[in-house]
Amino acid sequence: MSRIIAVTSQKGGVGKTTTAVNLAASFSRLGHRVLIADCDPQGGAGAYGRVKSAAATGMLAAMRGECSPEDIIAPMYDDGRVAGCVIGMGHPSDLLDFETASAKGELGRLITSLAAGFDYILVDTPVGSSTILKAALEKADEMLLVLNCRAAAVKTLPDFVRLAQWIRSDINPALKLAGIAVTMYREGDSSEKKIFDHLRAHLPAGLFLESIIPFDPGLEMAGIRSAPAMMVSSAADSARAYLEMAAEIKKREGELDSGAALDLGDLVAEGMDGRDDDSGEDDEDRVNFRNRRAENILAEMCDRANLAGAVIADRTGLPLAVCGLEARTADIIAAMAPELGKTIEKATVYMDQPNANDISIDLGSGERIVLRAFAIDGVPFYLVGLCPRTADPAGEMLLAATRLTEELA
Ligand SMILES: Nc1ncnc2c1ncn2[C@@H]1O[C@H](COP(=O)(O)OP(=O)(O)O)[C@@H](O)[C@H]1O
Ligand SMILES: [Mg+2]
Repeated sequence: MSRIIAVTSQKGGVGKTTTAVNLAASFSRLGHRVLIADCDPQGGAGAYGRVKSAAATGMLAAMRGECSPEDIIAPMYDDGRVAGCVIGMGHPSDLLDFETASAKGELGRLITSLAAGFDYILVDTPVGSSTILKAALEKADEMLLVLNCRAAAVKTLPDFVRLAQWIRSDINPALKLAGIAVTMYREGDSSEKKIFDHLRAHLPAGLFLESIIPFDPGLEMAGIRSAPAMMVSSAADSARAYLEMAAEIKKREGELDSGAALDLGDLVAEGMDGRDDDSGEDDEDRVNFRNRRAENILAEMCDRANLAGAVIADRTGLPLAVCGLEARTADIIAAMAPELGKTIEKATVYMDQPNANDISIDLGSGERIVLRAFAIDGVPFYLVGLCPRTADPAGEMLLAATRLTEELA
């Protein structure tokens, strides 16, 4: 019997594609025939291995009836064990066609017809296209939610609950929850631990997979080489963690099939659904999600340097603490931070400026974005402020970055 697992998240950059690719490799290692269907138009999993170049064509062509489903499958790696398929977009308008055909049920039908030849079909889904996500969930057996223990990702949990409820009630009543997979977890980070402990205390038992994927720079290296962790020696820790996660999902399927634990409907009804009711307690809990110390430092810095707002971002571009900015603005500014950070790194080398640590961009609106790189226990972070173009917050930002390095170590 084959199982279709949709790998989903409500936020980008949480490790969804990495999880799809590495679970696929792990299921294969456990002896299963595995297919990855990359349904993300931004090309996530399909960029791994050599699917894109090897597959003659893609899902869209099969959905149009231009080729048979078998024609779109290609081996991902040299050992030929994991197969993959991509959307196959040759023209910008193909995305519209893919969404339209998906909305008509073609994607669900295609995935189901491909499933016959495999034990596991992992579907990498996009963030932001509800048409494709809904189509992918229409025929899925299980839904895996990928989550980081960061405020920005955790805040999307209510959206996930609403989505899951909608799919279950209107689209696919048989959909089960494979679990929530926590990725990029930093063992030593006290705020992440706090968030994780809080979630586990408040959500139904068994919702989280026990295997956790650590934050592992080796995984990033593996990603650059378009290979799963188990093929890259520096990513051995996460390779092991993904193997354990695959084994755990497999074990839970036995429980799911026996009708017992982890029925999504029950979980939603039992736990997360009720969270909106006692909003007083909820608000207090949410405060714990944030790192108050970091936010205090941000607030003082904004005050002294006349900043309109500021955000601390990690190197994946997720906002960890925010002051004075709307969530969307903070998200956008944080997302830019790693790119700006890279520019600083280049300046230190190309321009022989070892002490270069900040960079600023003047916006047309008369505002300026200033970024300062800093590190906590050797891990890079970015402090980004938004201020009037005439302001010069560099000194205050240096002070704040120094405090962050010292007080959060
Ligand atoms: N456990 C991890 N530790 C460190 N980096 C990770 C980890 N998981 C993913 N990454 C990196 O984070 C970035 C985003 O991951 P990705 O899987 O593409 O996210 P998504 O598909 O959710 O957008 C990539 O550069 C990836 O290499
Ligand atoms: Mg992705």
